[in-house]
Amino acid sequence: MADVNKSFNVNGRAYPFIDHTFDVVVVGAGGAGLRAVTGASEAGLRTACITKVFPTRSHTVAAQGGVAASLGNMGPDDWRWHMFDTVKGSDWLGDQDAIEYLVRNAPAAVYELEHWGVPFSRTEDGKIYQRPFGGMTTKFGEGGPAQRTCAAADRTGHAMLHTLYGQSLRYGAEFFIEFFAIDLIMENGACRGVVALDLANGTIHRFRAHKTVLATGGYGRAYFSCTSAHTCTGDGNAMVLRAGLPLQDMEFVQFHPTGIYGAGCLITEGARGEGGYLTNSEGERFMERYAPSAKDLASRDVVSRSMTMEIREGRGVGKNKDHIYLHLDHLDPAILHERLPGISESAKIFAGVDVTREPIPVLPTVHYNMGGIPTNYHGEVLTLVGGDPDAVVPGLMAVGEAACVSVHGANRLGSNSLIDLVVFGRAVGHRCAETIDRTGRHADLPADAGEFALSRLDKARYANGSSTTAELRLSMQKTMQNNCAVFRTGDVLEEGVKLINDCWAAGSDLKVTDRSLVWNTDLTEALEYENLIIQAVVTMEGAANRKESRGAHAREDYASRDDVEWMKHTLAFIDEGARKTSLDYRPVHTYTMTSDIEYIKPKARVY
Ligand code: FUM
Repeated sequence: MADVNKSFNVNGRAYPFIDHTFDVVVVGAGGAGLRAVTGASEAGLRTACITKVFPTRSHTVAAQGGVAASLGNMGPDDWRWHMFDTVKGSDWLGDQDAIEYLVRNAPAAVYELEHWGVPFSRTEDGKIYQRPFGGMTTKFGEGGPAQRTCAAADRTGHAMLHTLYGQSLRYGAEFFIEFFAIDLIMENGACRGVVALDLANGTIHRFRAHKTVLATGGYGRAYFSCTSAHTCTGDGNAMVLRAGLPLQDMEFVQFHPTGIYGAGCLITEGARGEGGYLTNSEGERFMERYAPSAKDLASRDVVSRSMTMEIREGRGVGKNKDHIYLHLDHLDPAILHERLPGISESAKIFAGVDVTREPIPVLPTVHYNMGGIPTNYHGEVLTLVGGDPDAVVPGLMAVGEAACVSVHGANRLGSNSLIDLVVFGRAVGHRCAETIDRTGRHADLPADAGEFALSRLDKARYANGSSTTAELRLSMQKTMQNNCAVFRTGDVLEEGVKLINDCWAAGSDLKVTDRSLVWNTDLTEALEYENLIIQAVVTMEGAANRKESRGAHAREDYASRDDVEWMKHTLAFIDEGARKTSLDYRPVHTYTMTSDIEYIKPKARVY
């Protein structure tokens, strides 16, 4: 139901808005968002999905290698082994109750995808094909690699996203496509909905909902070189920060070992799963030295660090000795054609390489944010201020890469992202069905609902400084790339804190030249930049403050993991008006969800 007769006055300018009322509003139409939309609408809840790109262009489409679940199609497997690997991969920063929820529900979530029509690759006897992926083992790490990653060639995300979009249309959910969500509507600590701009016609919309679900993905574009789409600006994370709520574990940024050198495009870990390997300038398979057992299929943080060390020690390849080779040229061309067609094409287009004959030049590239909006395993956002660690923010949920449940802890295992999307997307649908009172009327919105979002919109629209968004963004991206990379030291991070805060301050000099609200990419990019910079600041500050090495956070000045001081989650807050940040910490959950498995105690993490 839409209502079109109200308007706000901001700086003397009238902003009419259109009101909508739904039971559930999901922001984002990637795998997690679409799975949540499907679940909520199937439960009979009036559900809307707001998305800034057409759903099948969401970044899930770029996921390649597969989705992890212990189906056991290629050999023995067990959810407990998957749990052990995920806990170890997380470097014991993951919450084990949530990890148990993920891995136990993973097989059912994959079979559901199969029944919905995902065209998985098949074994000879018609089962879902599963390939090895980094850090996935059998028998609690003692039994060799597990083939656990269910694949649709090397286009698994593409197949899943298209299938999920089809499903999400079945139960009458309404889509608001090319709508940019600006800010949450908060009232007395509860979320009442969200304000969005229709990019195509410049109209402004207030969505009132019992539950607002943020499924807005990661913020890879805070970095200069990443595998993420240009849309990956963490819009939901930024809305949460501006609402005075914390983001969790933002210093944990994953570098994927094999981004194409110079272009950043992803070459799936599945390439190594199918037998590919890395070499240095001496032709040496150096991973044998760093991870004698798992070798090229060690977890991503380990492989990315090893590659960086090879380059630093002068054994990089190419004219500038600044990258590494990934070999697939020894594999049967028929296998490459069947299982890795997408990356064979990407290598040709972006590196000019025929993978059947030559190695692909690769470099660790920003790929995934382990940190995000803290939630429980139902997808409810945690308040985390005050005494009750389990208290949730009424009306607000988060899922997918935007959320930090936390199942990935300090380092995510490859293919655990796609399973996270569908397991927790499904959980969100269930939770909405359980908790929303369908007979209850929607309370009126507060009189100022949306005013905060509109004042931000107006400020950006009329920004009259001298720095373009492109200039500000480049300076942020270079700072993140130089000062918060694979290896970190106190000096470099402290310099990074200063530089990134300078970037934040420079935002007051923003210039937006186009004042229109209709298809104004200048304005949209400015709003996206405002979202990125606050996430960049808390990422850098969290990294500078964490004085240990854990997972993707590798400090050269604090080279060991310190479980006594640092086995805890970082919580980062901002006060945007005062341009200030603060950090706090909370304990990792050292318990499981059920008594079917015991808490997995920390130990040395070797592969
Ligand atoms: O390498 C890949 O195919 C990426 C998978 C993932 O990040 O889960």
